[in-house]
Amino acid sequence: MSSLVITPVAGRVGAEIVGVQLGGDLPAGTVKEIRAALLRHKVIFFRGQKHLDESGQVAFARLLGPLTTAHPTVPALNDDLPILDLDYSGGQKVDRWHTDVTFVDRPPLASVLRAVVVPPAGGDTLWANTVAAYENLPSELARLLDGLRAVHTNQFDYARVSTSDDPEKARKYAEVFSSITFETEHPVVRVHPETGERSILLGDFARRIIGLPNDVSASLIRLIQEQVTLAENTVRWRWAPGDVAVWDNRATQHRVVHDFGAQPRRLHRVTVAGDVPVGIDG
Ligand code: SIN
Repeated sequence: MSSLVITPVAGRVGAEIVGVQLGGDLPAGTVKEIRAALLRHKVIFFRGQKHLDESGQVAFARLLGPLTTAHPTVPALNDDLPILDLDYSGGQKVDRWHTDVTFVDRPPLASVLRAVVVPPAGGDTLWANTVAAYENLPSELARLLDGLRAVHTNQFDYARVSTSDDPEKARKYAEVFSSITFETEHPVVRVHPETGERSILLGDFARRIIGLPNDVSASLIRLIQEQVTLAENTVRWRWAPGDVAVWDNRATQHRVVHDFGAQPRRLHRVTVAGDVPVGIDG
């Protein structure tokens, strides 16, 4: 019998799981339950996993599938582990709704985010369920989106606007960003490869919808993003050090709430490799 207790934390997205110490040595049955909860709730939360260090986080993430590099354009925290160091201490402002790394052909399947340093108040993260968003669209609008494709690019990737005052980090960033721009296209409505659910694939890296005039494309993206991020489709997590969130990057968007001023906030993210998004026509 399962020792996991899975409790939804909002009506349409997000569940907290208790009864497990995350790590790389979980029994196969537990991993299966965690994966099932991820598919069902889209984002799952594990409180207070303070025993988990960087290598433990990576080992746990590997149980969900092969990992990507830390990020296509940002150097990893260190040479050995594919960890993206989301350190907001330099005043970096990343507060737009997005699905991770959609500017590559194969965006991640999932992300595993661990809180290292959190501000005493603020700095929550929000997630939106892009399946529920699609399902709650007026059917005429859903049919319109079904056949569309969008261009995604990292041209405004958050890493480019880093204001880190660490000169070595700034030098590395400049070196990497000056040369690498990614651009790809994806269906606006994605069919989930495991659940078969349809979801909206847009977010901050989606720059334009193919075949539409720029102003119409911008208005349509804005309209759909408003629907995706309706409060009813979202869940909000108040971090404590050691908390871990895992989200299905094929069925969600997320953003940080940047209300913590210059207070330190640092999280480590590891991403599980995904596949090429497929639309409703295959
Ligand atoms: C992310 O965009 O993956 C990180 C979100 C956060 O820092 O809360």
